Amino acid sequence: MTNFALATTTKIGIVGAGAMGAGIAQIAAAAGHTVRLLDNREGAAAQAIEGIKAQFIKMSAKGKMTPDAAQAASARLLPACAVAELADTGLVIEAIVENLDVKRKLFLELEGLCGSECIFATNTSSISVTSIAAVLAHPKRLVGMHFFNPAPLMALVEIISGLATDPQLANALFDTAKAWGKTPVYAKSTPGFIVNRVARPYYSEGLRLLTEGAGDCATLDAIMREAGGFRMGPFELMDMIGHDVNFAVTCSVWNAFFNDSRFRPSLIQQELVDAGFLGKKTQRGFYDYAPDAVRPAPQTASACVAPSDIKIFGSSIAATNLAERLKSAGVAFQNSSANDDRIAQISDVVFFETDGRSATQRAHDTGIHKLVLTDIALDYSKSTRMAIAVAHQADEKTKEAATGLFQAAGYTVSVLNDVPGMVVMRTVAMLANEAADAVNQGVCDAAGADVAMRLGVNYPRGPLAWADEIGVVTINTVLSNLAQFYGEDRYRISPLIQQAVYAGRTIHD
Ligand code: NAI
Repeated sequence: MTNFALATTTKIGIVGAGAMGAGIAQIAAAAGHTVRLLDNREGAAAQAIEGIKAQFIKMSAKGKMTPDAAQAASARLLPACAVAELADTGLVIEAIVENLDVKRKLFLELEGLCGSECIFATNTSSISVTSIAAVLAHPKRLVGMHFFNPAPLMALVEIISGLATDPQLANALFDTAKAWGKTPVYAKSTPGFIVNRVARPYYSEGLRLLTEGAGDCATLDAIMREAGGFRMGPFELMDMIGHDVNFAVTCSVWNAFFNDSRFRPSLIQQELVDAGFLGKKTQRGFYDYAPDAVRPAPQTASACVAPSDIKIFGSSIAATNLAERLKSAGVAFQNSSANDDRIAQISDVVFFETDGRSATQRAHDTGIHKLVLTDIALDYSKSTRMAIAVAHQADEKTKEAATGLFQAAGYTVSVLNDVPGMVVMRTVAMLANEAADAVNQGVCDAAGADVAMRLGVNYPRGPLAWADEIGVVTINTVLSNLAQFYGEDRYRISPLIQQAVYAGRTIHD
């Protein structure tokens, strides 16, 4: 396959020597390019270069690059004092302030100075690439090259084409990013591109679960980590990102999609921003970060007696793994040959995996009053926490039996207040729905969406691959039940998911 990567003899101009510009300069210099780094803040470029050189020294001390390579890479970093000094570069990557007019002004100036072959790239995370390019005489030369923070460590680069972008130039930057050791994915210039769009439900479903009282922050975070396999739950993650930043991205994507309710911001987060409770950086967000603060523990059910008379039903992943875990814990159970939706039963207490209905609705629909729902897990054999919800029609003994069953299987149990879709299932279904819409609307392909979410925000599994594993029919049912319960357009099902169900295919087929 032809490789369109820029030769290392191509000089790279980088404008903006802040967190992102400095990181990108480090990558390009390490890859063999001469880099001219420009910042309009006096001394900022030279200071950033000193910082990068120190990084190279550290890397060589750790054996990640040879001392010679570190020295050579350092020598390739040159501060620039004026835009005119970038005239001999073959690629200019802009990482300045996130402002359309300022970015346009910079590229107009560059267009007057650089050769016609020079490619322009913007690292914008929220502004339309099409719109930045629109003022140029040759808008086809502008490509989005969206790195993630910290750029030297994060593998993903979104290569974004605006309406006028020359596909050959997008290909050249795709191959260049690869040559720099990154994993690029193609995206079309649309609000949030891939990652900042598809990730929205991770925050917004968490915020809705909290608003509706499904559980407190510590419990919901623990479920997403210990059952969902995510590195951080939504609340601790938003506290780390900063509510000002996270809320601004949500509002920008929501506005850009003409107030589509899929992206509607949350009043809880608005309140935090208004209060100046911005998260870790202000020592207060959902959690208290004062030096003497005690982190609240997740709600965890107290020990219940292991039930007898356990029956496990069918061969679903949930049932099979529950059986495995009970077996290795030495807990007796029977296998039932009845093949319906039940995963387990203890006398007249019946267990189902969530299908997007609340336990209470399902008890009403099925007439089974002692009904318990379970959430899903990324890996049932390894997960340590199980979230359950008990129908309002059931009695206290139902809850005790359910808790006892999962404790006997080695889980820490959190009993949620009964909301439709539970926590991991509801979040994953909505992540998959958003990824499916991005694919359906030609923003990226299914593989690109999954790679972007794994590498851009460290998800344990791509949302579409996860939907395929859960089963696209189940995801469709969950979303349909959520849509029916809430009566909100927010939960409308992506055409891609519906078509996969009708065709009897997976999303990745
Ligand atoms: P930053 O504030 O750390 O750095 C921006 C730098 O650009 C500053 O040093 C500033 O003096 C300089 N600057 C501003 N206007 C300039 C101009 N007209 N000419 C030359 N230099 C100028 O910002 P950061 O975080 O590095 O972000 C830069 C860009 O990267 C923004 O477009 C942002 O949206 C995008 N981005 C940021 C990410 C992040 O997590 N921080 C992630 C991905 C993209």
